[in-house]
Amino acid sequence: MSSTFGGCSALVSGGAGGLGGATARRLAELGFAVVVFEPDSARVENFAREIGGNAVGVAGDHTDEAAICRAIEAAQERGRFCVNVNAAGVAIDAPATATAEGVPHDMQVFRDMVELHLFGPFNVSRLSAAAFAANEPDEDGQRGLIINTASTAAWDGQARQAAYSASKAGIAGMTTAMARDLAEIGVRANSIAPGPIWTPRLAGAPDAIKNALIANVAFPKRFGNAEEYASLVEAMLRTPFLNGQTIRLDGAMSTPLTSFAR
Ligand SMILES: NC(=O)c1ccc[n+]([C@@H]2O[C@H](COP(=O)([O-])OP(=O)(O)OC[C@H]3O[C@@H](n4cnc5c(N)ncnc54)[C@H](O)[C@@H]3O)[C@@H](O)[C@H]2O)c1
Repeated sequence: MSSTFGGCSALVSGGAGGLGGATARRLAELGFAVVVFEPDSARVENFAREIGGNAVGVAGDHTDEAAICRAIEAAQERGRFCVNVNAAGVAIDAPATATAEGVPHDMQVFRDMVELHLFGPFNVSRLSAAAFAANEPDEDGQRGLIINTASTAAWDGQARQAAYSASKAGIAGMTTAMARDLAEIGVRANSIAPGPIWTPRLAGAPDAIKNALIANVAFPKRFGNAEEYASLVEAMLRTPFLNGQTIRLDGAMSTPLTSFAR
């Protein structure tokens, strides 16, 4: 991918959220025409307006193929569509695998969580990759880049995170396979696995959880910030040999054996 991005466009799913929002802004600063993809139409339009430039909001859910295709068309109308970042998700409030009272985890809750955190990002990835295939390759043979968002929970899931951890482990697991699938068409796939990053979703968490999270970070001893996530997106963009990897962004966090369960 070339080091100047004018004339290029990008699709950011969850693009009005904390990590997605910082990414959308960064990509716009780099010269991309950004398509912000989010379920809420008013929110997505306001956010795209805030970014300014050639940004546009497309309302839709990342589990909905028709909506994703609308977002991809909007990106293609605005430039050489060659970057897709998936940073959608919701705050987690899930049950335990089973309770002491003998109540098992609701399977529908598990399915919904995996649908949102794994199937959705794969859906956007596969449709974006298919669109990238038609691009003229750059001087390095590249036609596009896909970045998904895993989590340290892919490896260090807390109590009540079975479905979330399974989804995020799925993101990490599919990244290398996707990179190898897409090598033939010159498309890279990487993922970022954040630890605790300060976004609206964390701001809403109870203080006990926030304090426990910081306590587990080695250095720098603070929350990460969304701009650091955006910087890693930019580094992935500017480093063509980086492919098929999931990189932790977590201040060398270690997760204790105890849990955040209430
Ligand atoms: N913030 C953290 O500390 C942290 C840590 C690890 C992983 N993550 C992951 O990063 C991603 C983004 O998290 P965040 O902290 O920016 O959260 P956020 O809540 O600030 O942003 C997520 C965005 O996704 C959007 N969204 C929800 N459902 C969607 C759907 N079906 N289709 C499209 N968009 C949808 C929301 O409207 C929201 O704007 C999530 O997948 C989350 O699991 C975050």
